[in-house]
Amino acid sequence: MNVLVIGAGGREHTLIWKIKQSPLCGQVYAAPGNAGTQDLATNLPYGVNDFEKIGQAVLEHNIELVVVGPEEPLVKGIRNYFATTEALQDILLVGPDETGARLEGSKDFSKEFMQRHGVPTAGSKTITKDNIAEGKAFLKEVEAPYVLKADGLAAGKGVIITEDIQEAENTLDEMLAGKFGEASSKVLIEEYLHGIELSVFVLTDGKDYLILPEAKDYKRIGEGDTGPNTGGMGAVSPVPFADAAFMKNVEEKVIKPTVEGLEKDNIDYVGFIFIGLMNKDGEPNVIEYNVRMGDPETEAVLPRIKSDLLQHLIAAGKKELKNEKIEIGNETATTVVAVSAGYPGSYPKGLPISGIDSVTEGIIFHAGTIPEGNAILTNGGRVLTSTALGSSIQDALDLSYANLNKIQWEGMNYRKDIGQDLLKYIS
Ligand code: AMP
Ligand code: GLY
Repeated sequence: MNVLVIGAGGREHTLIWKIKQSPLCGQVYAAPGNAGTQDLATNLPYGVNDFEKIGQAVLEHNIELVVVGPEEPLVKGIRNYFATTEALQDILLVGPDETGARLEGSKDFSKEFMQRHGVPTAGSKTITKDNIAEGKAFLKEVEAPYVLKADGLAAGKGVIITEDIQEAENTLDEMLAGKFGEASSKVLIEEYLHGIELSVFVLTDGKDYLILPEAKDYKRIGEGDTGPNTGGMGAVSPVPFADAAFMKNVEEKVIKPTVEGLEKDNIDYVGFIFIGLMNKDGEPNVIEYNVRMGDPETEAVLPRIKSDLLQHLIAAGKKELKNEKIEIGNETATTVVAVSAGYPGSYPKGLPISGIDSVTEGIIFHAGTIPEGNAILTNGGRVLTSTALGSSIQDALDLSYANLNKIQWEGMNYRKDIGQDLLKYIS
């Protein structure tokens, strides 16, 4: 089967790497892809939101399965576009419809969904310009730290957490006045959840589901979780504090009601659900849903899957996941992300990267890279990820870091402490 993966990051390189291992796999295409996907697939020069061009390419190349990596085309309705375009109606597409994508695209929608279906989550109040006074009263009711969230997509920057009530009130005013544009015309004030955070991933056809390996992400730029938030600086899977009893709890209290909720609400949801969770003394609380895989979590999650991911994706696309079984290996995977100087602020692009070819064991997944002749140039903030499997976190980390030591570009930066906080959970 010919497959198209939409997106250009490390997540998409990893999806293609895994899909290519399947005996069911024919030609693979990426739109637009990066220098890493180019080695495994044909890169098509179309943006992720260019539905018309993507649709034409699907027909031209006899593509039968489309896997959507990032959230933006989902929020913009790529599934609906395929469903309502006659020539594309029979193409299998992994990604929810526009309504399903609101689970990520609107925090208010997502909160109401959780409340309607009994999924444990923090208490909250949604505030607009019309009820600011109610918002300020709610801030006085809840305890610090105060959590304020822009309702819409704000490039990962829409959550502000502060200990100071005055700052919380000012932030509420600023957000409603347009700090994040239209995305913060509604703001959720949320109770603060204590505990340890992890990410759980599910592939669903809207009725049945497979639970993928869980992962822990490292969001801040600086070691010891300091400095501004990024898209993610590293990931580890499995997560030692997510034991079998906790994961059972997650399945019963979060995953089942979520998938049943999609069905009850008549949402055409074929795709991944990324559940951001807080574990408080073994009890899961949902922080957020994303309607896609995480990045860089994918780079640590997919290498641990032993079964045929393409077969699972096809089954999901056909809404026949019921009989699929996922097989997960015992090894630990670590991923360390190397970023451009200045990231997550502004950064240069177009710098030559050397040393990738000298990595022979472990995997380098490309994120912000672009080929130019025989050279590979930086083309983003998160440039590449170094993934390794090992018998322990430390084993895998040793290889992830040894491989990064072989790679260079001007201003290359990465966190040296990925996974260190997890060592205390290992007896
Ligand atoms: P989000 O964009 O919803 O993932 O939020 C960004 C980060 O803020 C999360 O990964 C959490 O670390 C933190 N966060 C969000 N909501 C809460 C909450 N209610 N309590 C504690 N931390 C939170
Ligand atoms: N690593 C977090 C995300 O993909 O949103």
